[in-house]
Amino acid sequence: MSTALELNRPTYTHIELKKLQPHIGAEISGVDLRLPLTDAVRDEIRRALLTHKVIFFRDQELNAEQHAAFARNFGPLYTHPSTPRDENISPLHKISAEEFKKYERIPTPTSIDAGYHTDTSWRLVPTWGAVLRAVNLPEIGGDTIWVDAAAAYRHLPDELKQRLEGKHVTHDFRDALLKSGHDYPIVAHPVVRTHRETGEKVLWVNFSQKPHIIGLDIAESKEILSAVLEEYKRPEVQVRFSWRPNSIAFWDNRGAVHYAVRNYGDFPRSLDRILIADEPLYADL
Ligand code: SIN
Repeated sequence: MSTALELNRPTYTHIELKKLQPHIGAEISGVDLRLPLTDAVRDEIRRALLTHKVIFFRDQELNAEQHAAFARNFGPLYTHPSTPRDENISPLHKISAEEFKKYERIPTPTSIDAGYHTDTSWRLVPTWGAVLRAVNLPEIGGDTIWVDAAAAYRHLPDELKQRLEGKHVTHDFRDALLKSGHDYPIVAHPVVRTHRETGEKVLWVNFSQKPHIIGLDIAESKEILSAVLEEYKRPEVQVRFSWRPNSIAFWDNRGAVHYAVRNYGDFPRSLDRILIADEPLYADL
């Protein structure tokens, strides 16, 4: 676990880092991800990730094995039960326009449906990290947006922070799982979680998994969720990344939520994603 002291250290010796936005997002250079990482480089990448929540690498011509080897530096890889897998490397998943269509969400009257989400939050112990690699990109469009969910929390009015105290929100992915022959009970996580490594309070709602705040009636739950969504949508807490061939994004699902911008028509955009599992011990983040 990183200490707050380490995270506050602004300098890097083994990598180059350029901040993209004040709160979130940094571009890393000076490292070749095709090669094994030294412990020192790995630790600096991890520190950059915890500090900036999503980090980007350009011009990294990785194959699937190198992609998986890079992700493995940061924890065991997770094989998702419903996302299509690479035939040789099972934790390498195909994120494509086709896939999005397959899981087209059915809006429910009890929740607010929007694209801002975090990966596998439907699990009791969600995967903490994700490494996404560009495979087939439209000439223009198909960006991805990440939101600093801690900055979103900080900006909430005190009155709303108080209303959220002790509240849990549902993360329901059952429809999609059942379609693939899997099942998992509907779980609820605290709406405001404390990141166990940075200590930050994080506003943590998955708008693609039928969120409902437990114990509130539908109208009040929706009212609060709308306010959360408004925070996520504020450009001040976002970073937007335009993909190029050989781009990589690596994010911390515990501190950021993300949104895939689908403005590329029928183009068969595809990216390969690897999720990094968390330790069961840390079910609370
Ligand atoms: C995702 O939403 O998990 C992937 C992001 C993207 O396709 O841009």
